[in-house]
Amino acid sequence: MTEDKQLCIGLSLNATWMKGEGWRRPDSGVEKMGSIDYYMDLAKMAEKAKLDFLFRADYLYVHPTMLGDSANFGSPDPTMIFAAIARETERIGLVTTISTTFNPPYAVARQLQSLHWLSNGRAGWNIVTSIEGAENFGDSPMPSPQERYAKAAEFTEVVKKLWDSFPSEAIVMDRETGMFSDREKVTAIDHSGEFFSVKGPLTLPAHPSGSIPFFQAGASDTGRSFAAKVADAIFAAMPDLESGVELRNDLRRRAEEQGRSPDAIKVLPGLYFFLADTREEAHGLHKEAHAHLSLERRHASLQSVLGLDLRSFTLDHPVTVDMLPDPNQPVRSRTHADLLRRYIINHQPTVEEVLARPEVVGSAHWVSIGTVEDVLNDIMERFEARAMDGFIALPGGSEKSMELFFEKLMPQLVERGLFRSEYAGVTLREHFRIG
Ligand SMILES: Cc1cc2nc3c(=O)[nH]c(=O)nc-3n(C[C@H](O)[C@H](O)[C@H](O)COP(=O)(O)O)c2cc1C
Repeated sequence: MTEDKQLCIGLSLNATWMKGEGWRRPDSGVEKMGSIDYYMDLAKMAEKAKLDFLFRADYLYVHPTMLGDSANFGSPDPTMIFAAIARETERIGLVTTISTTFNPPYAVARQLQSLHWLSNGRAGWNIVTSIEGAENFGDSPMPSPQERYAKAAEFTEVVKKLWDSFPSEAIVMDRETGMFSDREKVTAIDHSGEFFSVKGPLTLPAHPSGSIPFFQAGASDTGRSFAAKVADAIFAAMPDLESGVELRNDLRRRAEEQGRSPDAIKVLPGLYFFLADTREEAHGLHKEAHAHLSLERRHASLQSVLGLDLRSFTLDHPVTVDMLPDPNQPVRSRTHADLLRRYIINHQPTVEEVLARPEVVGSAHWVSIGTVEDVLNDIMERFEARAMDGFIALPGGSEKSMELFFEKLMPQLVERGLFRSEYAGVTLREHFRIG
């Protein structure tokens, strides 16, 4: 198998017990949550397995339904976590999430370039436009998705201009002549756009290894167009294989329309894994992770994702196309709503099946449950069907599940030629083979 046929693999820096009641297990180690050591140990395991990158999602609000019985309510700033991890790792990429809806581009360009320096060229930026949180940044309501994406496009352009405003070549450090920097090479950007006015230049030079790879997450029509223009990778919600094939083909086509190579954009679904020695055990872990989701909570989630209220129907009642709400009605996330809508249209499921869907009980991610062999087969099936270029592992289950991932599943992928056994480069750009 050639290099290009190998998977690109990232790990979401999360505990296995983040969701549901898994944190209550005596061996969960939940007490370590407040310490960087937990993340550091995970980071080191991931680097030992030669993973391409570490990843962390981020939200700027506390969802009230997450408080009380769940540990999954928020987190420290991921860019700060990665700054600490940068010091104790050498090769693995560090992909932080920063919203373009709530932050100023100058501060973000500086934060990211700082992480790039601290990690010697390993930073990545997951660009999100966010679904909620406006109330923490003023009195205005959440802007529409279109406005958020228009802002994200300008934001990204400003960030890139700022990185270019102070190129690494501007640092001369010539002791003989006394010239530290070449002022001709450091230039203002004088950006004046619909959302931002930024003079520049940035306060620090760009890292000489090259610019920071971009990830993107929203997959509505507007989200896909934005990704096709700027993203090197997509963090995809891909509950089933078909949705993956559709998304990947579409993104590759859109990238070509933008004059880019279709291979320039990697589709990396979240893979929420539950691994155990037996299938029964693994399914038990999955059940435990969703035990807090009562029937009412599932109905409330369905209503919030799709605007569909099925409370008056019995669990075995089929959900048919005519029951779906108007497709143009505003939703929290078009990506999640469209995935569920497509599933209902294609499968005519029962109410019970809809209420068990990843779009309803989670973040619409692909869930793989079973033994190492089962999850391995799932991964190979999606890769061979060209539904993905790799994945971002989202730890689920127990600490044993994580152990099986690193000690059994990853070595199996290497043995089958689906993943490399050594790093070929040092920076994230090199891992991604960005020229
Ligand atoms: C898989 C996935 C992961 C996301 N992760 C985050 C995140 O970590 N933080 C955030 O603020 N928004 C996140 N979002 C929200 C998106 O950035 C975007 O605002 C939302 O999906 C609406 O865009 P859409 O209309 O293209 O779906 C995520 C969306 C998806 C689909």
